[in-house]
Parts: sequence; structure tokens; C-alpha cells
Amino acid sequence: MSSTTMALGFPRVHHRLTDSTNERAKALAGAGAPHGTIVTADEQTAGRGRQGRAWTAEPGSALLLSVIVRDLDERHSLLPLATAVAVCEAAEACAPVTCAIKWPNDVWVDRKKLAGVLVEGRPQEGWAVVGVGLNVSARRFPAELEGIATSLALESPVEDPQSPGAALESLLHALDRRLSDDPGRVLEAWRERDTLKGSRISWRDGEGKAAGVDDTGALLVETADGRVALQAGEVHLTRVT
Ligand code: BTN
Repeated sequence: MSSTTMALGFPRVHHRLTDSTNERAKALAGAGAPHGTIVTADEQTAGRGRQGRAWTAEPGSALLLSVIVRDLDERHSLLPLATAVAVCEAAEACAPVTCAIKWPNDVWVDRKKLAGVLVEGRPQEGWAVVGVGLNVSARRFPAELEGIATSLALESPVEDPQSPGAALESLLHALDRRLSDDPGRVLEAWRERDTLKGSRISWRDGEGKAAGVDDTGALLVETADGRVALQAGEVHLTRVT
């Protein structure tokens, strides 16, 4: 992640409506768009989440952002974690919230999801697209998200309006800083926000107690058979306690 001396956010492509900002950004990256290019949208028709899930948001209610990151090096495995830290920092600069991270990169406030991160790309070609969906001004969610999602507006005093534009500025600033940060400091910041540590968790092939992350960002779990390291993307976790 060495070429991140250039600030993020230029050039910027904004869509009123698009399929997925990650999809648009990947197409731009494949065509040679530079490091720092961003794609934003008011609304997505095919917003993607991790592990094949959909990401939905009412038009104009969320920051929908994809950033092209070039010149990745061996630290690219920490990109999802660094992004989650940056999202927490940006959210805390915009609203009176304290954010935690559910491994690898869900951003939570009081056990409700405020933001999600989807990193896609071609590390072998040295680029990735960092996608962030951050609930900003939403005050209601569809029934299936009610009680499990939140927004900056819901966490703020009523007289303190929240806009995706203001959140974008904060996020680009925080992301710029964390992408060029020392990996040790990224891990330290991530570990301070680790909401799973000490919880019992289960996944398709096992269960155990979450024990933090190793230096590559893999989740460590103490199981009855010893310690295992889970890679993001491989597992879908459920918190048991
Ligand atoms: C998750 O929580 O599973 C990740 C959600 C990531 C959603 C964002 S919205 C902007 C960007 N474009 C997409 O299609 N997905 C990401």
C-alpha cells in the first residue's frame, strides 16, 4: 500500500442510480483508472455484501462508496481490517457513537450494524476495490433489518442532521490515513475495537472462543481441539454468547 501519498477522492464518478459501485469501480480499475479514484451512488440496484449477500439501502440514505487502491503489497490482507478501522473513525467524527468491529469488517454500534465493507479485486494485478456501505440518514429499515441495523442519524440528536456528503469527506480522510499506516498500528487499532474477542462463536465446521486476530488478520479461535485460524471469506460466523 505504498502509493497512498496521493489523496483519495479524485477522480470521482457519481451515479444517481447504478447496479453496484464496486462493479463500476472494478470496471474502471480494469481500464486503468488511477489509485484514489472513487465511485459513489445515491442508489444501487444490485449492491453486494460479503459472502454473496445483497446490500440494500433506501435512495440517498447511505454512503455508497467504492475506492480504487493500487500498488498493493504483501500487506493487502489487512486492507479489509484497515478499512473497518477507518469507517469507525469517520463515523465517530460525524456522530456521537462508539464503534466496534465484528471480524473481519462489520462496523457495529451497540450490537447493531452501522456499516459493511466489501473488498474485491485483483491482488495479482496490484489493485483492489474497497467498497463501503455506511448507513447515514436512514431512520427506518425494512422489517428484516429492523433491530439489527442502525444509522448515524438514529444515533444522533434529532437536531444534528447527517448527510452522506459529510460522511464521505470524513471517510476519505480516515481511509487515506489508515491505508498508508504501519500494519502494526492498523492491527492495534483493530484489536481495540474487536467485539468478538472472548465470545463463543460457531461456524459451519466448528465452534470455540474468539481469541483475537493474528498478524495477517485471520481470526483466532480456541476450540476443544486447540487453536485454529480462520480466514475471512471462508466462514460465516454466529455469535453464541
Ligand atoms: C457487507 O456488509 O456484507 C458488505 C457490504 C458492502 C456494501 C457496499 S455499498 C458500496 C459498495 N458497492 C457494493 O455493491 N457493495 C459495497
